[in-house]
Amino acid sequence: MAPRKRGVMNTLYPPGKKPGAGGRIKNHCRKFWWCDCLLIVIIALIILLPIIFVAIPKKAQHDINASTLSVTQQDISSPSPEGLHLKLVSVAKSSSSFHPTLEAFRASLSLKDQDPFLYIQIPEAKADAETTITVEQDVKFASKDQFTNYNKLVMSSEEFNVYLSGSTKVHQKGLQAMTVDYNKVITMKGLNKLKGLNITDLKLVTTPLDDGSNLIGNVFIPNPSVMTLSLGNVTMNLALDGTPIGTALMKDLVIKPGDNTVQMQSITNQTAVLNYVIAKKSAVIPLDIVGNSSIYNGEHLTYFESALSSNTVRVDLNVGPALAGIGLNITKLIGGGS
Ligand SMILES: *[C@@H]1O[C@H](CO)[C@@H](O)[C@H](O)[C@H]1NC(C)=O
Ligand SMILES: *[C@@H]1O[C@H](CO)[C@@H](O)[C@H](O)[C@H]1NC(C)=O
Ligand SMILES: *[C@@H]1O[C@H](CO)[C@@H](O)[C@H](O)[C@H]1NC(C)=O
Ligand SMILES: *[C@@H]1O[C@H](CO)[C@@H](O)[C@H](O)[C@H]1NC(C)=O
Ligand SMILES: *[C@@H]1O[C@H](CO)[C@@H](O)[C@H](O)[C@H]1NC(C)=O
Ligand SMILES: *[C@@H]1O[C@H](CO)[C@@H](O)[C@H](O)[C@H]1NC(C)=O
Repeated sequence: MAPRKRGVMNTLYPPGKKPGAGGRIKNHCRKFWWCDCLLIVIIALIILLPIIFVAIPKKAQHDINASTLSVTQQDISSPSPEGLHLKLVSVAKSSSSFHPTLEAFRASLSLKDQDPFLYIQIPEAKADAETTITVEQDVKFASKDQFTNYNKLVMSSEEFNVYLSGSTKVHQKGLQAMTVDYNKVITMKGLNKLKGLNITDLKLVTTPLDDGSNLIGNVFIPNPSVMTLSLGNVTMNLALDGTPIGTALMKDLVIKPGDNTVQMQSITNQTAVLNYVIAKKSAVIPLDIVGNSSIYNGEHLTYFESALSSNTVRVDLNVGPALAGIGLNITKLIGGGS
């Protein structure tokens, strides 16, 4: 039998009446079981708490950061000077093994480093590999100046970025709700300066319409974006070699994704056009078209007007068929001019 030991260990774990480890442990367990339980709980908490409060939220935020958001449909309708109706369909993609539910939240939309132009309400969504999120609501502009800048960018860009920013809570089964930031850069196709716009089926009308229109035709507008835009009654200014020659009206203009062909009626100075054709000996006139007004329910939509008037489209328009339509032989006209 070992001699009785002194010291801390023996004070903490005094030997039992019977010698041997078995007795010691039995004794120790009887007297100090609560102390060990506490120790185990403390160690467990030291390991688990950072996981629950640091590692998991960090992973949740990381996975949100790593997810992508793309807009597949954006419909703008019922525009007014203060707001519009918006339908936005987007797809969030994530490769995370977590599939939490994100609470509904308010997000801002802005251009890079600018104040938001809109706030939208994003509905609750379950994060899957691919999640479709549909926002449909009437929105008021957060800043009309910023929304004007946004429209100018849409008009002038082949591609542009919109910054969506918000904060929400994620719910994962078995864990408490975690707050995450939801900041996404959304890259979208724009109207690309209305490149490819054309005027076809041009006809001179001998008896002007109610509003004085003496030229009608179709306008071909390609829209490479996913946006449907209700622009109202749109008036464009027409110029020939820098000289204004009239205006063109497109009633209730709605530009849908893809190719659009809409009717146009125009009040054109026919004398100016004829003089030009004769002087240049060509039936093809270089027509400059630039936006003038966008009127919806009698109200000017300045944010669309600024965008439309910031962009000039040059169309090489063959007026030969239109002149032939009223019995003018362009070959003879030009021949007579020389
Ligand atoms: C998430 O992205 C933001 C920037 O938007 C960054 O500040 C943050 O550190 C990122 N968090 C994680 C966990 O990756
Ligand atoms: C515009 O339309 C006319 C008539 O359809 C066509 O001949 C011409 O090639 C078109 N121009 C462009 C640039 O597409
Ligand atoms: C039409 O154009 C002709 C020739 O350029 C010009 O003399 C005339 O004043 C114009 N008419 C109108 C109404 O602008
Ligand atoms: C729009 O057209 C009207 C009348 O034709 C003109 O007075 C006005 O200056 C034009 N506005 C722009 C922005 O071109
Ligand atoms: C466009 O103008 C016509 C009248 O020419 C009007 O009946 C129609 O309501 C207008 N459209 C819009 C969207 O305001
Ligand atoms: C136009 O005039 C030319 C020359 O005078 C003639 O050869 C041609 O047949 C005429 N075209 C039409 C469509 O009348």
